[in-house]
Amino acid sequence: MAALLCVIAGCNAQKKQQENMNDKKMLVVYFSHTGENYSVGNIKVGNTKIVADYISELTGADQFEVVTHKYDGMSYKAVCDMAQDEQAADMRPEFEGKIDDISQYDVIFIGTPIWWGTYPQVMFTFFDTYDLNGKKLIPFATHEGSGLGNTVSDLRKAYPKATVTGSFSIYGHDVRDGKSKVQKWIDGLNL
Ligand SMILES: Cc1cc2nc3c(=O)[nH]c(=O)nc-3n(C[C@H](O)[C@H](O)[C@H](O)COP(=O)(O)O)c2cc1C
Repeated sequence: MAALLCVIAGCNAQKKQQENMNDKKMLVVYFSHTGENYSVGNIKVGNTKIVADYISELTGADQFEVVTHKYDGMSYKAVCDMAQDEQAADMRPEFEGKIDDISQYDVIFIGTPIWWGTYPQVMFTFFDTYDLNGKKLIPFATHEGSGLGNTVSDLRKAYPKATVTGSFSIYGHDVRDGKSKVQKWIDGLNL
């Protein structure tokens, strides 16, 4: 009987989270690089995009992909070298597209691969372009050993008046089998 009540309570909690998710307008903003990758070969869909897609599937969140063609067709080493130079020079590479009415979103997931310990510089261009102060920001990262690196502190620096919470990281080589990990993380968020 206790077990049954527990199952019912669990269902109710899940239903409540689903209702809350339906109330709130959510967005996933992410950058993801395709092509030659450190540990998963030459990929057509980036690791971070795979996680972004899981999030949208599980929560109904809209998506905005931060797209630049700067690194198209380059070798892994060339991208690494260029990214290192961009970080040293604190560059702001351009990205394509824009978000219609950012004010409609209460909760924004911010996803990235870790590049040299933090965001690729193009994400800082995004942060300079959109004011996300006052919103709930949930950072996530794919990586090959650095975890979230400095992304959480850099996001807080970019948006001192946002609530940065609930961060999540996963190895890039784990994402293709990682949907249950993402599901567990989402279930634990107070959305
Ligand atoms: C330019 C560059 C720099 C990277 N720097 C790091 C790093 O500092 N720490 C780390 O754990 N992984 C690093 N990686 C590995 C990526 O974070 C990892 O492969 C990630 O899953 C790629 O995601 P994506 O396919 O969405 O671009 C780097 C990769 C690139 C291309």
